[in-house]
This record gives sequence, structure tokens and C-alpha cells, in this order.
Amino acid sequence: ALERTISIIKPDAVAKNVIGQIYSRFENAGLKVVAAKMKHLSKKEAEGFYAVHRERPFFGALVEFMTSGPVMIQVLEGENAVAKNRELMGATNPKDAAPGTIRADFAESIDANAVHGSDSQENAAIEIAYFFSTTELCPR
Ligand code: CMP
Repeated sequence: ALERTISIIKPDAVAKNVIGQIYSRFENAGLKVVAAKMKHLSKKEAEGFYAVHRERPFFGALVEFMTSGPVMIQVLEGENAVAKNRELMGATNPKDAAPGTIRADFAESIDANAVHGSDSQENAAIEIAYFFSTTELCPR
């Protein structure tokens, strides 16, 4: 089915200057960028976005890292966009990520793991609404 998902290029990958290389992977896989913004997240914005992880032991470090520099946030649209983006990213821990995935190629650690992607269509809808108003989405 035609789906939308959120992708966030995290502070480590923005600092490495690989936004374009990561966008190329989306485009080569048939995913279209239908909205995008660069943003330096506040503590409140990062805490709200990752609210589901509030009770996890890594929550503080996650928020600290996600506010350490600008991120690039995009909505990707395409057939099976949620699963396709997760395939492109590879496993959360780059040590476990398959060769040729974004995290295998650009990530250093489970914290600095280059990208975030929605894990389900349900969460994709929530995450898209968190960062974008409907008028900012440009279906094409
Ligand atoms: P992300 O997909 O952005 O969702 C939550 C993030 O928490 C995850 O990627 C990792 O960068 C980070 N994280 C740190 N430790 C863990 C862990 N043990 N399990 C899952 N995510 C973790």
C-alpha cells in the first residue's frame, strides 16, 4: 500500500555531512520526500517525540544526543514506506546492521545511529503530525 513514514537524520549524520548520500538511498529505493525541515530540537521537543521511551534507561542519553546538533526531518512516501525505510536503515545497533544499510555505513554506536524511522504505520501518523502540519505535506 502507499504509505508515509518519518525519517530523521540524526545529529551525528548531519555533522558527517551525509544528508545527500542518505537522501539518495531513499530515492534509489523509490521513496519520495514529500516534506522536510532542518531543526535543532529543544529538550522538550526531543522528550515529546520519544515519549514512548520515557521509562527506558537510555532516555536521558537519547534526549541529550538528539539535542546535540541539528537534525534533518523528512516525510517519505511510497509503497510500503515504513518497512522499506526500516530495511534501508538496518538494525538499531550498527554492530548488528546488515552491510550496505545506512547504519552499517554511517553509524558509530547504538546512540549515534545516524537515522530514526517510524516502526509502524500507526506511529508514523503520530510522528508525522508531531513535526508537520497537513499543509506542509506535498504529495507528488
Ligand atoms: P531510534 O530508532 O531513534 O529510537 C530510539 C533510540 O534510542 C534508538 O534509535 C537508539 O538510537 C537509542 N537507543 C539507545 N539504547 C537503546 C537500546 N538499548 N534499545 C533501543 N534503542 C536504544
